[in-house]
Amino acid sequence: MAKQKLAYVCNECGEDFSKWQGQCSNCGNWNTLSEVRLGSGKRSTSSGGGYAGAAGQQAQILDLSAVELSETPRFSSGIGEFDRVLGGGMVPGSAILIGGHPGAGKSTLLLQTMCQLAQRMSALYVSGEESLQQIAMRAQRLSLPMQGLKMLAETSVERILEMATQLQPKLLVVDSIQVVHTELIDSAPGGVSQVRESAAILTRFAKQTGTVLMLVGHVTKDGTLAGPKVLEHMIDASLLLEGSHDSRFRTLRGIKNRFGAVNELGVFAMLEQGLKEIKNPSSIFLQRTEHAVPGSLVMVVWEGTRPLLVEIQALVDESHLSAPRRVAVGLEQNRLAMLLAVLHRHGGLHCGDQDVFVNVVGGVRVAETSADLALLLAIVSSFRDQPLPQDLVVFGEVGLSGEIRPVPSGQERIREAAKHGFKRAIVPAANVPKGGVEGMELVPVKFLNEALAAL
Ligand code: TYD
Ligand code: MG
Repeated sequence: MAKQKLAYVCNECGEDFSKWQGQCSNCGNWNTLSEVRLGSGKRSTSSGGGYAGAAGQQAQILDLSAVELSETPRFSSGIGEFDRVLGGGMVPGSAILIGGHPGAGKSTLLLQTMCQLAQRMSALYVSGEESLQQIAMRAQRLSLPMQGLKMLAETSVERILEMATQLQPKLLVVDSIQVVHTELIDSAPGGVSQVRESAAILTRFAKQTGTVLMLVGHVTKDGTLAGPKVLEHMIDASLLLEGSHDSRFRTLRGIKNRFGAVNELGVFAMLEQGLKEIKNPSSIFLQRTEHAVPGSLVMVVWEGTRPLLVEIQALVDESHLSAPRRVAVGLEQNRLAMLLAVLHRHGGLHCGDQDVFVNVVGGVRVAETSADLALLLAIVSSFRDQPLPQDLVVFGEVGLSGEIRPVPSGQERIREAAKHGFKRAIVPAANVPKGGVEGMELVPVKFLNEALAAL
């Protein structure tokens, strides 16, 4: 028997190495390399062994201008928020990875989508995790149309492809990539080599046949299991379904998308009747108490291609620790520390002996700098124990010298706030539109002290 070729693949970045090493020299993470067997003698698809190009056909040299520019014929998934994250619908021949923690609702989302789409086109749902009875029971409970959707309980990639070749579906779901295995590799399912190789074979099938492939991938807490990370370079779109267990809201976020904008956010609620899309997400994150309370403020963040109103809360309390606590939930910890320093230096407010906790309500995670100003004003409000008006909305980036910097799409943010009944906005001066915004009193600020004075 031919000797098996070994390679080492980083679980974090997917880089290959010919020798084992403790630290990945590509991404710098420690202990992330695992052994990958490249199949004995048989051709491995992901490691460049195949002769076919990305589209599965023999490649030819073409002049760029000679490339045929057919309009990518997208079709809707039937769920608006899903389409939004995909960048306007599904593209034939694309491979989409839906990642998330177990219980996030990946199978539910795909079952709902597939049952609806199966009414219009041929669709195959391969489940390696749940039995067909379980899935049928769920579909019945959710009152989904059950006729038309073809089901297969199978974990062998070769068998799946055999069935798919017969059926020629337009849509193929494999739930999940961690339980399927290919004969090319003799390691256990779920390992990096199996996941990588299986995904490569399935993706190639999708490209060759123009099938939309949707792969489910579990993300573990510590991320050590062969995670979707190693797949990211071969798939076209990677979406992450997130949500805490105690909240019924789920967000679907685009992490990578070759056919649309990344960081697009879709919002769903997990109800008795399955996942329901939420078309106006601002309204759910804004369920506030009736009376104004200190430390609470509404800000406008930008999620993908739309503004989102979210409440931010701060609690500043006298600390009994030698190193007071700084806790940020839904925001970046380092940014909080930096902003507190700016507040001290340019706002004259000293929090060195105070514990500071900040939280973005509703489990939203904000990675945008536009939250800076709202965060600082919420802290000031809690520190002074003075509530801020309920109809006030704030956004803006704060620089290290205390300047308030403009953020992208300022006008749209202000309009969104006006639409939800807010009357007053403290915003970066450069974001104020010339004609103002109807029904909104705008307070343009250039420096942090102006914003503090405006409170
Ligand atoms: P599931 O789609 O099986 O998650 P995943 O495939 O990501 O592991 O969803 C499971 C969770 O969703 C489970 O905790 C129960 C909850 N759920 C509801 O609350 N309502 C429903 O209608 C359904 C189908 C699931
Ligand atoms: Mg599942």
